[in-house]
Amino acid sequence: MFKELKEINSMNCDVMHHFKTGNKPMEKEKMEKYWSRFPDTYDKNQEYVVGKELLDKMIKELNDLSNLGDVIEFGCGTGYFTETLAKKANQIIATDLSDELLQSAKIRLNKNPRITIQKENCMETSFISKKFDSVFMANLIHVVEYPLKALQESHRILKDGGVLIIVTYTNYGMKWFEIIKLGIRFLKGWGKPPQHVHTFSPEKLASLMENAGFTVEKSKLIGDRTKALYLIGKKK
Ligand SMILES: C[S@@+](CC[C@H](N)C(=O)[O-])C[C@H]1O[C@@H](n2cnc3c(N)ncnc32)[C@H](O)[C@@H]1O
Repeated sequence: MFKELKEINSMNCDVMHHFKTGNKPMEKEKMEKYWSRFPDTYDKNQEYVVGKELLDKMIKELNDLSNLGDVIEFGCGTGYFTETLAKKANQIIATDLSDELLQSAKIRLNKNPRITIQKENCMETSFISKKFDSVFMANLIHVVEYPLKALQESHRILKDGGVLIIVTYTNYGMKWFEIIKLGIRFLKGWGKPPQHVHTFSPEKLASLMENAGFTVEKSKLIGDRTKALYLIGKKK
């Protein structure tokens, strides 16, 4: 516990922001390795760190979506949100960088004929332009090295008028002691944080989406003790 508190202390006040350890570029392989460490306990860790209550609220929002057509999901991890999304999609291609997490997603989702699992880097995918009706990403944009690049790639592969749905953790609007508690749970659950963690406010994320060519149609802060942003944009 002493070691963890020392780490928290070194994070200064804004825990999530200070999870950043520098501006050195993180290669794709390092990122892949980071998220591949806990394929079997990923979901439990996630529920422990951010709280099941917040995850349920995120899922509830997604359940309210109307038909999304052909969907691509970036950073699907173990597929925690994929099944919910699949109910709203004609087809969904769930993608991630991590082979280990994709394997867990396959086991979880392989019975659903509407879901295909595929390895892709969200910043540079193999898809042709204007292929999808919707892009979905959960808890990804705040951990990628270049968030704008991921949004621009989303824009490229979306049809005109296509929809971008983002739900992602933030410490924006959290009480300072909840941020500290979240930091401690993070260290216990995941160990050292990833190299690139961005703290987005609703305005900051909306402005990034606008820069990538989207009109933001919905922006909402979800959660009580822990928080997530929920933004929907339409390709201009
Ligand atoms: C915080 S996890 C979220 C997983 C899942 N969406 C969820 O909410 O349970 C971030 C995920 O993004 C993936 N990821 C990170 N960088 C990526 C990239 N450049 N392209 C695709 N996936 C990436 C990781 O492998 C990991 O599965």
